[in-house]
Amino acid sequence: MKRFPKKRVVITGSGSGLGRCLALDFARMGWRVLVNDINMDRAEETEKLIRDAGGQAVSVKCDVARWEDVENLAKTADQQWGGADIVVNNAGVVSVGFVEKIPLEDWRWIIDINLIGVIHGCKAFIPLFKREGGGHIVNIASSAGIVSLPEMGPYNVTKAGVISLSETLRAELANDKIGVTVVCPTFFKTNLMDQARYTDPHQLSMANAFFDKSLCGAEDVSRHIIKCIRKKRLYTLTQIDARFAWRFKRLFPQTFYRLLGFLYSRGYMDKVLGIKSP
Ligand SMILES: NC(=O)c1ccc[n+]([C@@H]2O[C@H](COP(=O)([O-])OP(=O)(O)OC[C@H]3O[C@@H](n4cnc5c(N)ncnc54)[C@H](O)[C@@H]3O)[C@@H](O)[C@H]2O)c1
Repeated sequence: MKRFPKKRVVITGSGSGLGRCLALDFARMGWRVLVNDINMDRAEETEKLIRDAGGQAVSVKCDVARWEDVENLAKTADQQWGGADIVVNNAGVVSVGFVEKIPLEDWRWIIDINLIGVIHGCKAFIPLFKREGGGHIVNIASSAGIVSLPEMGPYNVTKAGVISLSETLRAELANDKIGVTVVCPTFFKTNLMDQARYTDPHQLSMANAFFDKSLCGAEDVSRHIIKCIRKKRLYTLTQIDARFAWRFKRLFPQTFYRLLGFLYSRGYMDKVLGIKSP
């Protein structure tokens, strides 16, 4: 992290879960954190946790789906600290279900937050980074964007979009000393399902079973991300199952989806997860 002596980080959705863990980890390393969230109470809680631990933080309200809010975030970083070094586009929500049943309104809701929100973050901070002569963009995608599990269409689509955007930027910004890291975790327990939209209770059972089986916490994911920023890695596949699925799909794409379809249609996925099939 020596390339960033001014130590200024902006983390969207840092009022909870992974965003909060990252905020606390950066603060512990002496970074100033611009905490922001659509839920201002949660953002202020994170700010307080950082200040109580002796760190430096400022919190503002920001709905990443609104361009004016994200533009204001970049302006705040500029006014408070004369710029930023790292932006983490972390805020995200869940919408899942059977594609033919998902209301179009839910597709638009998740695309606006999970994909357009990340586009807003990149568009607002790239000019600051270019002016400063460098920076780092961290986009929180998901292993869902690689594996595309059934009944998770909207979530998969937005995360695949974030992966593609990050790969595009990696090459596009190569001359500008701006690093790009895209993070693809599998499940870890947070408050993510609190606002989740789904078409059938089966998806809720699936998600809860995945969370229950997860051996990893937001703290582990956060530490892994910081290591990957340090090493300027493009891909961060935080857990072993994410790395296995990524390699399997890349090497044998047809077999991967044939197998997934077979396991899903026969109800084996539910059996492994220990839940009732629809
Ligand atoms: N938890 C997992 O298993 C998991 C796995 C892979 C990827 N992710 C991704 O990690 C990121 C963080 O999620 P989390 O698991 O910590 O969930 P979380 O719900 O605990 O935290 C998400 C935060 O984003 C905020 N948020 C929601 N909509 C917003 C908006 N429009 N503008 C600004 N903030 C908004 C929420 O208020 C919340 O504080 C998300 O992008 C999620 O998709 C999570």
